[in-house]
Amino acid sequence: MIYQIYLRSFADENGDGIGDIAGIRSRLSYLKALGVDGLWVNPWYPSPMHDAGYDVADYRAIAPEFGTLEAAEALIAEARQLGLRVLVDLVPNHTSIEHPWFQAARKAPPGSAERGRYHFRPGRGDGPPSDWKSVFGGPAWTQLPDGEWYLHLFDVSQPDLNWAHPEVRSEFQDILRFWLERGAAGFRVDVAHALAKDPAYPDQGEGPAYMPQCSHLGFESGIDAANNHPFKGRDEIHEIVRGWRRLLDEHGEQQGEDHMMVAEAWIDWSRLKRFLRPGEYHQVFDPGLLTADWDRDAMRQAIALALKSAGEPGSLPTWVLSNHDIVRHTTRYGLPKGIDSKDWLLSGDRALLDPEQGLRRALAATLMQLALPGSVYLYQGEELGLPEVHDLPIDRLQDPIWERSRHTQKGRDGCRVPIPWTRDGVSFGFGSAEPWLPQPASWAALSVEAQEGAEGSTLELYRSAIRLRSAFRYERDFTLLDTAPPLLAFQRGASMRCVVNFGPQSLPLPEGEILLSSQPISKGALPPDTTVWLG
Ligand code: NOJ
Ligand code: CA
Repeated sequence: MIYQIYLRSFADENGDGIGDIAGIRSRLSYLKALGVDGLWVNPWYPSPMHDAGYDVADYRAIAPEFGTLEAAEALIAEARQLGLRVLVDLVPNHTSIEHPWFQAARKAPPGSAERGRYHFRPGRGDGPPSDWKSVFGGPAWTQLPDGEWYLHLFDVSQPDLNWAHPEVRSEFQDILRFWLERGAAGFRVDVAHALAKDPAYPDQGEGPAYMPQCSHLGFESGIDAANNHPFKGRDEIHEIVRGWRRLLDEHGEQQGEDHMMVAEAWIDWSRLKRFLRPGEYHQVFDPGLLTADWDRDAMRQAIALALKSAGEPGSLPTWVLSNHDIVRHTTRYGLPKGIDSKDWLLSGDRALLDPEQGLRRALAATLMQLALPGSVYLYQGEELGLPEVHDLPIDRLQDPIWERSRHTQKGRDGCRVPIPWTRDGVSFGFGSAEPWLPQPASWAALSVEAQEGAEGSTLELYRSAIRLRSAFRYERDFTLLDTAPPLLAFQRGASMRCVVNFGPQSLPLPEGEILLSSQPISKGALPPDTTVWLG
């Protein structure tokens, strides 16, 4: 089980309002007590921070606001002593415009070797080379004064690297080695699906059919097994991945330890599963639970599809309910079915949100997810039941999506608000200064201090669940049971059955010893929106 640390918002040790590596080091015992096995830390590199560090200026250093390389090495070593391994966020699809390669490319003339490491093209007439769109909004091409255009699938400050170029490949081999030598367990690989581009840069044509909740990350439905998308899930990617995997395996063998890499790839399972073939990724993020409504059939389908697809190449799925890009699941589930939560963030009726329902369902989903075979990725703060902060003042928004979408999407700041550690203090114990994003006053009651040891708290439920999970987590035997809606149930080995009531009414509690439940259970009834683990 991996705990995702959004560094800027986890803990601020030096009191400048921004989370830092020293802050993580000071909270390692909290993470250990939670019971996770590893940490994935969002990008920590020097960066102009136009996309919260996913615009990297130097892949072998640490941004001064986060700390130093020594601090990162110390974090990795201290975590390892506690049995926690650290995954580094690798951002290979694009650099920052401040990366020395792009600085050189910008100054160099059209057709120069410097430009060859990126995608520079002449336009068509007065327009861009193709109709590709940035997933953050607007065109994916920007023109330089000398007339050439460069490609950026994300923000204008994130030029896409040309992975057909040998120097790009060898540079990244070296970057991977750099972090492995510093003790990293491996990598979470950003935008793993888009590294290869069709060299003819054909038009995309019709606007893509995007998946709700994840359209701002470019998750299109319907990219099928054919290799026909100009820049998503193309066959050429796999050779790159195999090169990285060889390096990980070789280094692991020399050091006598395991390494791993997990792909962030917004493509359907029909192509996604290819990333899990032997010699490629160890894991891919499953988009299923992020996009499914609170609905028994939708969840059952997502689970079955992930298990089947990951199972074909001999792997297991990962399960993710929240991350730093998606409206927190406590809030998603508080909205009526069919509402796209990120659209609601901007202009939706606030009265539609039912926070109690959201938390109830979030806890049920968490227990369901923790009972499934495979790896779970938790996002910081979900163990406190934090909701999305939907009412951040507009003038505090930092996500480039807000501007690029011409204010039609609010962006992802609402799931990135600093963690409340204590009931009081200027930032509820996050640090000693005003935090970079304001926290709601109601978060005092959600703080670690308020929840630690408190019966019935979200934090204690997470801790109990993670503890109990260790008894069956490696159990391979799994059966999705044939229960009628609104019940979803599955069996893991002989020892454990998980039952979820997705419906609005209490139902008779199936037989068995109650190991844990997401709501209090009495009188043999399974309450609405509740998961129970039965022994
Ligand atoms: C996915 C990351 O999770 C997201 O935060 C980022 O904006 C894009 N990739 C671009 O790097
Ligand atoms: Ca700080």
